Amino acid sequence: MEPVAAVTAAGRGGRARQRGRYGIDGGYAGLAVFGLIEVGLAGTAAWAARRRKPAVAALAGVGGAVVAGSAASYLYSTGPGKRAIWVQLLDELGLRGDEHVLDVGCGRGAVLVRAAGRVPAGRAVGVDVWRRRDQSGNSRAAAERNATAEDVREQVELVDADARHLPFAPASFDVVVSSLAISNIRDAGGRAQALREAVRVLRPGGRLRIVDDGAGRYAAVLRDAGCTEVAVRPLDWRTWYGLPGHHIPLVTATRPAEPTSSP
Ligand SMILES: C[S@@+](CC[C@H](N)C(=O)[O-])C[C@H]1O[C@@H](n2cnc3c(N)ncnc32)[C@H](O)[C@@H]1O
Repeated sequence: MEPVAAVTAAGRGGRARQRGRYGIDGGYAGLAVFGLIEVGLAGTAAWAARRRKPAVAALAGVGGAVVAGSAASYLYSTGPGKRAIWVQLLDELGLRGDEHVLDVGCGRGAVLVRAAGRVPAGRAVGVDVWRRRDQSGNSRAAAERNATAEDVREQVELVDADARHLPFAPASFDVVVSSLAISNIRDAGGRAQALREAVRVLRPGGRLRIVDDGAGRYAAVLRDAGCTEVAVRPLDWRTWYGLPGHHIPLVTATRPAEPTSSP
């Protein structure tokens, strides 16, 4: 089937100018840790230089460079890296342009606005409880501003809701996406409930894409919830978040189409 309308600039994501502001995942706490380590290492280097201990000063210098690299990787993953990954994942979905997409735990809308840009004749709904400790400056208003800045406000709907209790009828969405949100639910039972909710609101034949630290463990729950084509794959270096070799996984799944009744 032909796409129903052109993809907007926000939908093209990585190839379009970045107009929204999406904050830092994990709030400022992660960056503060990098900063404190840097201060400690700088102090050690200065102390070692005064005491003429060149080996210690060199070690502290190398440590400082490693931590600075790690902080840069974290900032890259939380910003351009995440957005580039999702542009690719949304490309892979090959949307027509009239689908209804749900983003569970949309935060400031980094993924939501990109999905919205691909469904100019559809709808992109973001649900969240907008916790600031999970993303800096997190709020429904910030998501709204980003949707406006990226010219997709008309397609976007924002809903205050917990992932464990989605306020939608069964089979409401063609696609459900979620980025780094479900693992913020502390208990395994709550995470499983959120996953079952995601499946419940998918229409038969609908597709699910979840990028999350815990995605590898979600596969079994999704199979139990009746999904087919459940697969887990590690994403590339863009998801290192400051730890080289740490690849955040993606889980993909499909809600099977209802069996056609025989004549
Ligand atoms: C690290 S942020 C990621 C935000 C967004 N998906 C992104 O990738 O930019 C995690 C998000 O999950 C949301 N969240 C945490 N627990 C939630 C819950 N029980 N229901 C809905 N959203 C939740 C937080 O408020 C936050 O917006």
